[in-house]
Amino acid sequence: TYVVTDACVNCKFTDCVEVCPVDCFYEGENTLVIHPDECIDCGVCEPECPADAIRPDSDPGSNQWVELNRRYAGIWPVITERKDPLPDAEAWKDRTGKLSLLSE
Ligand code: SF4
Ligand code: F3S
Repeated sequence: TYVVTDACVNCKFTDCVEVCPVDCFYEGENTLVIHPDECIDCGVCEPECPADAIRPDSDPGSNQWVELNRRYAGIWPVITERKDPLPDAEAWKDRTGKLSLLSE
């Protein structure tokens, strides 16, 4: 599976949802997640994200992201169409360590 990391927080560019063939992105207030059991591992979303927030679960340390994506994908609504990024997306794009800012 692929997962969304905290690099998406406060950005939500949503280019990713446009290309996903199985519509497995879910939307929170300030980030998206991927449903790890619905993702078919095609990889097409990864290069689309301007914040480089999408990673394969083969990345070292990805366990926490898989768990987080699974948890919120079960709660948040599906998103299937692109929308405007959050207002300060460009400013937040290259910031790291944004997990504590994630809005449930
Ligand atoms: Fe969707 Fe493919 Fe990305 Fe998985 S890897 S979230 S199936 S676009
Ligand atoms: Fe987030 Fe990147 Fe998609 S910022 S909404 S994972 S395009």
